[in-house]
Amino acid sequence: MNAITFLSPVNEQIKLVEERMREQADFAHADLRAAMEHLIKAGGKRIRPSLGLLVGNMLAAPLEKLVTLGAAVELLHTATLVHDDLIDGALLRRGTPTLNARWSPPATVLTGDFIFARAAKLAAETDDLRLMNLFADTLSIIVNGELTQMFSARGLIDRDNYYKRIYAKTASLFEMTSHAAAMVSPANDEIIKCMREFGYQLGMAFQIVDDILDFTGDQTSVGKPLGSDLHNGLVTLPSIYFAESNPTDADILSLANGGWTNHDNMTRLVDNIRASDATRKAMQEAENYIDRAIACLGNIPQSAERDALENLAKYVVDRKI
Ligand code: IPE
Ligand code: IPE
Ligand code: MG
Ligand code: MG
Repeated sequence: MNAITFLSPVNEQIKLVEERMREQADFAHADLRAAMEHLIKAGGKRIRPSLGLLVGNMLAAPLEKLVTLGAAVELLHTATLVHDDLIDGALLRRGTPTLNARWSPPATVLTGDFIFARAAKLAAETDDLRLMNLFADTLSIIVNGELTQMFSARGLIDRDNYYKRIYAKTASLFEMTSHAAAMVSPANDEIIKCMREFGYQLGMAFQIVDDILDFTGDQTSVGKPLGSDLHNGLVTLPSIYFAESNPTDADILSLANGGWTNHDNMTRLVDNIRASDATRKAMQEAENYIDRAIACLGNIPQSAERDALENLAKYVVDRKI
């Protein structure tokens, strides 16, 4: 999977980010180097570093800092995926086997730890204490969110809980990236605040769409296991809308009492949700976030980067991968 094609303004810079990511394994054990190479080569959309580069270029931040920030953020994201796939027992990511599909759990955990450490080192190389603080805070928000999700009741149908969960696991990193890219630029506080808000709104929409694709996506294009959230007891926005319209549906009622462990019933529920208007309603919600993201760009003078950011926001809800 390649980076998103319309992001041509930053395509060359993304290559610099990838180079920076690769360098981080230079001194490592041969197997660790091979694992990092496998992860980097598999690609991914590179949406977080693209966001940082577009925001930073738009606000005239120094390229070197943006490349370092982009590599730090993408490595942080990669490390969370390495651990997430082990936790979820997922065997496929970006169309290729996950590390845990080939390696033992201990080797997978340690590889994730190594990548976290290299991401932190890159954050430090920006020489910006505020950025390092943001970076560390965001990592703790993500991990705390994952642990909260793990220990909170499966099958819980609660909108407030859902929004808190997607902020922690996804929107916090988008928010941090956009905020940090603005922070290392000469922009004033007002603009920095707008860009932080832009990242937040974009990240919330991004995770809602990820949750919709779990129901409606094409497995080969998405490149990771789909239809799995409900089977894992994870109630996301499409399920919440479906539950609101069908409060007496037997499968919905069973969720709170461990019904999600019944494979056949959950397969039926996934089919019923697909056939309902619940994913359309969830998409409307994602579009509302995107409208608010685009509104944040209103205070910023017109430029090619601002247009690309608007396209990025639109892509988040149009994407099929
Ligand atoms: C996957 O993120 C994890 C989520 C937060 C939904 P992406 O969809 O950005 O994954 P890649 O990097 O493109 O593979
Ligand atoms: C990704 O969440 C985990 C983190 C962002 C920490 P998901 O479990 O929803 O992501 P996918 O669907 O496996 O990519
Ligand atoms: Mg997962
Ligand atoms: Mg998901």
